[in-house]
Amino acid sequence: MQHGLFITFEGIDGAGKSSHIEALAQAFGAAGRTVTLTREPGGTPLAERLRELLLHQPMDALTEALLAFAGRRDHLRCVIEPALARGEVVLCDRFTDATFAYQGAGRGVDAGLLSQLEHTVQAGSGQNPDSVRNPDLTLWFDVAPEVAAARLAAARAPDRFEAQPVEFFRRVAGGYAQRMAEAPARFARIDAARAREQVAAEVLAQVAARGWLGGGGGVHG
Ligand code: TMP
Repeated sequence: MQHGLFITFEGIDGAGKSSHIEALAQAFGAAGRTVTLTREPGGTPLAERLRELLLHQPMDALTEALLAFAGRRDHLRCVIEPALARGEVVLCDRFTDATFAYQGAGRGVDAGLLSQLEHTVQAGSGQNPDSVRNPDLTLWFDVAPEVAAARLAAARAPDRFEAQPVEFFRRVAGGYAQRMAEAPARFARIDAARAREQVAAEVLAQVAARGWLGGGGGVHG
């Protein structure tokens, strides 16, 4: 059986990551892999209810972080770990880096506390009870906050995060940069200011370069 692969997609709101997730799922499907497409906040019935609260209910930053990790725990146990154990490719739109970037760098929640939560919530997964589950690859769609804001302005009604000022997104982007500096081997930074086709090509190239688009499946989720 093939090894499971856990790939996450990150970036500030308006970075344009969503369309590329679907394209990568198609590429893995064409390479014969079974893909689970999922997202955070969300991914299970419980976590999707928490997502609604996070995006629309006023609350303080620590409450946001606790809800994000509560949903993540349920998502890991019910969706991500079982799919990886079946040898599938899990493509997840946002994961823990978003909590460090948004609640940590953006809102000021202590990074040490987030780290403790990360280790508790993501522990004991997979075969080894001492391990902490982390993505095999995180594609960080990096774009200037002004460019992202212009893209968002043309899109849907903003949620609690999308309504934040450019300054907030500058801090969030700094949070992603910090996470990449702490785990450079896990990250690929994608320049998301370029045309969509160029970004799509680089996403595929980053994954192919790791030898993951080799060769039997379908798309779930
Ligand atoms: P999405 O629009 O990409 O689905 O993301 C939903 C919003 O939730 C986005 O503004 C980022 C935010 N978010 C957090 O603030 N903390 C988290 O831990 C996660 C996963 C997302």
